[in-house]
Amino acid sequence: MSTRTITLTVNDQTLTREVPVRKTLADFLREDLGLTGTHVGCELGQCGACTVLLNGDPVKSCLLFAVQAEGSQIVTVEGLAGKDALHPLQQAFHDHHALQCGFCTPGMLLAAVDLLSRNPAPKADEIRRHLSGNLCRCTGYVNIVKAIEAVGAGAAGTDTVSTGAVGAGNIQK
Ligand code: FES
Ligand code: FES
Repeated sequence: MSTRTITLTVNDQTLTREVPVRKTLADFLREDLGLTGTHVGCELGQCGACTVLLNGDPVKSCLLFAVQAEGSQIVTVEGLAGKDALHPLQQAFHDHHALQCGFCTPGMLLAAVDLLSRNPAPKADEIRRHLSGNLCRCTGYVNIVKAIEAVGAGAAGTDTVSTGAVGAGNIQK
């Protein structure tokens, strides 16, 4: 299979790798970089488990080839937490019991980071609309919405919700 060398920044770390041209961004993150927090569910762009931020926008990484991310800034769930503390959204998901199996959680978190960067204090219906591309088979969504609402309410008028990566995760060398 033909390959290409790409350079991109993942969780604030710039790296260069040779990748098969038909490898998806999701598989590249998981298999080449060891960032297995990006989950792969449907591989059809429907479940949102593979959501990452690409240049600040949420994308389904199963629908992109890694080579299409050349030169871009990627944030995965591993990039959210700081060294000593969870990201406020991760803490809120924990506090509000907003996950059960956790399969959808990385994608939910990144979709929520995107929402709060655009709307710091979203209402429940706005949260539900924004998460329409992220499916959860366990929670019924109620506590996910509560967690995001809580961070939004807490962050209103402050600057506590970071939308960029603060930790690199454990990217494989
Ligand atoms: S695995 Fe990408 S949307 Fe489901
Ligand atoms: S917590 Fe299991 S799919 Fe959402």
